Amino acid sequence: MHEVMKIEGGHQLEGEVTISGAKNATVALIPAAVLANGPVTIVGIPQIADVDSLSQILRILNVEVTEVGADHLIINPANMKNVDLEDDAVTKLRASYYFMGALLGKYGYVRMKMPGGCYLGPRPIDLHLKGFEALGATVEYERGCYTIKAEQLTGAKIFLDIASVGATINIMMAAVHARGRTIIENAAKEPEIIDVATLLNKMGAKIRGAGTNVITINGVNSLSGCFHEIIPDRIEAGTFIIIAAAMAKKMVINNIIPQHLDALLSKLQDMGVNMKIDVDKVTIEHSDALKAVDVTTRPYPGFATDLQQPLTALLTQAEGESRIKETIYAERFKHCIELQRMGADIDVIPGGAIIHGPSRLYGTRVAATDLRCGAAMVIAGLLADGVTEIHNVYHIDRGYSEIDKKLEALGAKIWREPCEDDDE
Ligand code: EPU
Repeated sequence: MHEVMKIEGGHQLEGEVTISGAKNATVALIPAAVLANGPVTIVGIPQIADVDSLSQILRILNVEVTEVGADHLIINPANMKNVDLEDDAVTKLRASYYFMGALLGKYGYVRMKMPGGCYLGPRPIDLHLKGFEALGATVEYERGCYTIKAEQLTGAKIFLDIASVGATINIMMAAVHARGRTIIENAAKEPEIIDVATLLNKMGAKIRGAGTNVITINGVNSLSGCFHEIIPDRIEAGTFIIIAAAMAKKMVINNIIPQHLDALLSKLQDMGVNMKIDVDKVTIEHSDALKAVDVTTRPYPGFATDLQQPLTALLTQAEGESRIKETIYAERFKHCIELQRMGADIDVIPGGAIIHGPSRLYGTRVAATDLRCGAAMVIAGLLADGVTEIHNVYHIDRGYSEIDKKLEALGAKIWREPCEDDDE
């Protein structure tokens, strides 16, 4: 049975919320763990459906997965078998593609289905595949399945045409056992890439430069188990910061790395949000009138595309015209259509949107068309008059750890009801 999320809007929020481990690090750390010969303990695992799908893939590979308490995962690949990955779990999320790099790196062979994930317009993986080929692998694609194999992976110099997060991490994983040195140029610089490199280095890899645009990997023969704590989720943090800017009387957002959120925090400052930033938390109090701002999404450290959708919901409340330009996913604007249903005044233009504010929002039936659209709907629902009914909540559950519980503790009126007509 599917569920619908309901939010009665208009209630001010007050209290503290603690941010979970980063989804986009976790979904790469779990596949990376299979490169070890012994147990890898990962702490700070968020409670999200993507983790369940990845655990299912690990079990298919005969990897022992033990959950300890709410947020520890012990992954033991000692008895692992490199079977073909044709299960539906692979198509449930985008990040299943990290098993390509991990299994190719470990065994020189991987066969798996095309990965799934949110539809944000075309999301090719050509750069991942080109990287594998540069390391000496061959790639075949037939009837929805990739077969990637190599007799011996050999280090190479790889220039990424686009600084892709997924390609950077996938190539890094494939290269850890390659003979010699791999250099990734124009690498992506997202904090999640540093987190994955940190895990691999703790396992015994020799990766330098993660977090800059040149990453060097010197191949090693074997990797062992280790202990790792995941960085806080900067997108979940950003979402709660935006929620606070929208609805807080006074809210404290704990367990954040403010530096990871610089682009968002500076935009919110421009909007006139009343906030105090500390070493690992931010406190936000009610702000009277918000001002419109222009935002262009960029790779890190620019403004994150994943926060563009939540921010749009807040911008419906800002005085004046806000312009959004999306340079990562030109079609990431389905949330605007949903916001329009609630009364927002938004023009969607090619690669962008213009928001005319402020608008009064009204609760109605909307859909979480993708994960971050879901976050935008939650924010709009908290702001709206009446009850907002969010369908396809499975998208939200893929990436936000206990969002209902966290919001309820802050005073939100949010609940779920069974629903028969959703599309999963
Ligand atoms: N691209 C290519 N070819 C490739 C790879 C990427 O053309 O081989 C293009 C993409 O189409 C896009 C751009 O490069 O236009 C950047 O894509 P990137 O590879 O960086 O994105 P990703 O690794 O697929 C991750 C996050 C996304 C986030 C993007 C951008 C994960 C699992 N996903 O995706 O997160 O939007 O980076 O920061 O880490 C989300 O959390 O809601 C989400 C979609």
